Amino acid sequence: MSVLKIVKYPASILKQRVSPVKNFNSELKNIVRDMFETMYAYNGIGLAANQVGIELAIVLVDISKVEKNLMPLVLINPKILSYSRQKKMEEEGCLSFPGYYEKILRSKTVVVSYYDINGNKKEIRAEGLFARVLQHEIDHINGITFIKRLPLNKRIRFHILHSLGKYKF
Ligand code: CO
Repeated sequence: MSVLKIVKYPASILKQRVSPVKNFNSELKNIVRDMFETMYAYNGIGLAANQVGIELAIVLVDISKVEKNLMPLVLINPKILSYSRQKKMEEEGCLSFPGYYEKILRSKTVVVSYYDINGNKKEIRAEGLFARVLQHEIDHINGITFIKRLPLNKRIRFHILHSLGKYKF
């Protein structure tokens, strides 16, 4: 097991759509183990594989510190099947943007399909923080960072300040 290096913005791998997992083998299990170790080492509540330089559709979520009844979850090839019309603004951070936090508008609930680590197809309905983290992480594997979800004025402000060297990611 090893803690992997977190890829920081503006690395190009964060802007790429990754490939689906095809083989549910021991290599996949090793990747997932390393991803968990990495997420916990950085106190993250979610992690996408391209954030550790792996171009595969793997997402981890663990919000058990906040929602004690929700176990850590591995989602392989996840897809959001539906978004609630009701949305909510909440502050988000990202391990690829250390120290940067912004309020992001997200759907309150989502329905997600995915495969578990053994290749079994699953579907879940998530709400609240769980739904928010899933949307954030599934965006990652589609090459979308949370900056893209900011309103235009805030996004422009971010890009200007970033180009001026305000953020040290
Ligand atoms: Co992130």
